[in-house]
Amino acid sequence: MTRILGIAGSLRTTSYNAALLRAAASLVPAGCDLVVGSIEGIPLYDGDSETAGGIPGPVTRLKEHLSGAAGLLLVTPEYNNSMPGVLKNAIDWMSRPPKDIATVFRGKPVGVMGATPGAMGTVLAQSAWLPVLRALGTRPWFGVNCYVSGADKVFDKSGKLVDAAVAERVKKYLAGFVEFVHKLD
Ligand code: FNR
Repeated sequence: MTRILGIAGSLRTTSYNAALLRAAASLVPAGCDLVVGSIEGIPLYDGDSETAGGIPGPVTRLKEHLSGAAGLLLVTPEYNNSMPGVLKNAIDWMSRPPKDIATVFRGKPVGVMGATPGAMGTVLAQSAWLPVLRALGTRPWFGVNCYVSGADKVFDKSGKLVDAAVAERVKKYLAGFVEFVHKLD
């Protein structure tokens, strides 16, 4: 079984990106397990609290999940044409201490998708992740794009993905990404 860790970058209960990640978990190809990670409970990065108390529990759990996973799927909202602080904060914490980057991130295949009620499908947020993914030595996948726009119509009130064309796109994205993960494994 190929395990992939998925992280959605929103704390909102009715987050479209969390909904997209849940949908993705049900659309992965057979033989793949997309584990839904959480950024809840991660404090703002503070070097003093790191020195005094080490790495917070929710961060350690995500690092362990990612170390044991064959790939990472980031499901990113877009804030002011870039990535949201809460998700960048989580990734920054996960890159601590720097010696762990080698086992947690280096060489890891990474897919990025995202949802917005807006028209551009998080294209700018997804691009904004690229320097971060490069800094961590990951291997981002560029085979297919997955930009989900008009998210308020694509998901119903309960967060279920109800747009068949978008579901097909997500499925195609995941099939390609998992194939990429297998090739690198
Ligand atoms: C946004 N939103 C937004 N959307 C977009 O497509 N491009 C953008 O640049 C921005 N900028 C932005 C800034 C801030 C501060 C907020 C709070 C929101 C709208 C955003 O896509 C929307 O709130 C989504 O619903 C956020 O994702 P979740 O929480 O639904 O996953």
